Amino acid sequence: MFNREEDNRMYFGNLINGKWENDSNEKRIEIKSPVDDRSVGFIQAMSKEEVDKVIDIAVDAQIKWREMPTNQKSRILHNVADLLEERIEEIAEVLMVEIAKDKKSSMSEVKRTADFIRFTADTAENIKGESLPGDSFPGFKNDKISIVTREPLGVVLAISPFNYPVNLAASKIAPALMAGNTVVFKPATQGSISGLYLAKAFDEAGVPSGVLNTITGRGSEIGDYVVTHPKIDFVNFTGSSEVGKRISKITEMKPLLMELGGKDAAIVLEDADLDLAAKNIVSGAFSYSGQRCTAVKRVLVLESIADELVSKVKKEMEALTVGNPLKEQCTIVPLIDKKSADFVEGLIDEAKEKGGTLLLGGNRTGNLIYPTLFDNITTDMRLAWEEPFGPVLPIIRIKDVEEGIKIANESEYGLQSSVFTKDINKAFYVANKLQVGTVQVNNKTERGPDHFPFLGVKSSGMGTQGIRYSIESMSRPKVTVINLEM
Ligand code: NAP
Ligand code: G3H
Repeated sequence: MFNREEDNRMYFGNLINGKWENDSNEKRIEIKSPVDDRSVGFIQAMSKEEVDKVIDIAVDAQIKWREMPTNQKSRILHNVADLLEERIEEIAEVLMVEIAKDKKSSMSEVKRTADFIRFTADTAENIKGESLPGDSFPGFKNDKISIVTREPLGVVLAISPFNYPVNLAASKIAPALMAGNTVVFKPATQGSISGLYLAKAFDEAGVPSGVLNTITGRGSEIGDYVVTHPKIDFVNFTGSSEVGKRISKITEMKPLLMELGGKDAAIVLEDADLDLAAKNIVSGAFSYSGQRCTAVKRVLVLESIADELVSKVKKEMEALTVGNPLKEQCTIVPLIDKKSADFVEGLIDEAKEKGGTLLLGGNRTGNLIYPTLFDNITTDMRLAWEEPFGPVLPIIRIKDVEEGIKIANESEYGLQSSVFTKDINKAFYVANKLQVGTVQVNNKTERGPDHFPFLGVKSSGMGTQGIRYSIESMSRPKVTVINLEM
């Protein structure tokens, strides 16, 4: 059973070999809503022995799954997408309660996931191998042909973060499956129930038993064990740089794909359209209370236009809606937990102490941090460098574009940056110098469309996601050389 109710409590199982098992283990974790502490349900805290069993099942299931024709896999994935769309309201409700995401963003996460899955299925159907003639290399005759096809890697471990429990899980699972791998999916503990609803759609859409399996439990308890498990062939991880670095240290030769933290800068030049810049900066910085890897996390603005930009940003921020996502549509919602809110408050307090100019917010009710704007943030403050994952925007004034590029690049992170200018030459000049995966010209930093390559450099990640890129990352070339007698 997917879930069962007992004494007014909801218990969720794990998808193991095509069955929902929820009686195997007495150890449970209660998931409470960040909005009002209500119980969302209990998930299993799986033991290492249970994890072993799940991984063995995934290993066995891969033998048949890899042989299933791509067009059949694709049909199953299209069914998953259809089911997600049918259940959009139901799954969005779960997201709203479990991770305090507002209704509009929750609905759009589910819709985007359905689109992602369909596009992945269609892309995989159209991936062609290649053949290379030997005689194009000096010294070889035309008696050799290399036929290059793609092979799955085996069992992919998909670990997702709390902030997009459906989308960032599906963006690992769907390409992994289309490449012929089986998947063991470990959702973030806060976000597990949303992730299990996603797995339910895969199961009911006809994914064969054992091809997708779930494991729940705290990363701090089972994480090291599962990532280093010898039968896991690939780890596809999204989460903090801290955990990502730990995984990369302990997994030794295992191939990894990592989407990690960011400190995305919006660089605003003198000739920028300041209304456009202010709108994009605010929506980029504050949607879902700034709990997005790609949120605008600092503004680097030329001194000559700083006053005007700051006043426009402040005005946009004053229009942000703050509140309870279960009652109303709002942008600023309670942060995921007390630890996160305490961390953000610490950054705010330090910026105040060191002389940052607090223009808006800075206050807190429980885990709800009000939208906060600081001007005159300097490079000796933590807010210039650390990822708040909360609704706090620091403005750093720069004397020229070179200083902006320097501060942007001094970050340990390198996910995305924005540059606002009307001059395409300046835009390219800045873009070429920034050490990030993506530069957005005249737009907020953001992921998507999801078939674009998406990657972070430095502490922001390893490898490249994006539909075709993800399929390629979770498969390898297989080369068969035909040697002809000539
Ligand atoms: P997190 O604390 O690092 O957790 C991410 C996942 O890792 C969760 O499933 C977590 O499980 C698991 N985990 C924890 N310790 C582990 C270990 N030792 N081994 C294996 N797995 C372990 O991150 P988060 O708070 O959920 O997400 C926020 C962070 O993710 C931010 O830094 C954000 O920038 C980053 N992020 C990056 C991207 C991107 O595309 N670049 C996208 C989204 C988020 P538990 O929940 O059970 O601890
Ligand atoms: O949190 C990280 C997500 O990958 C960001 O996606 O820019 O579409 O919100 P987004």
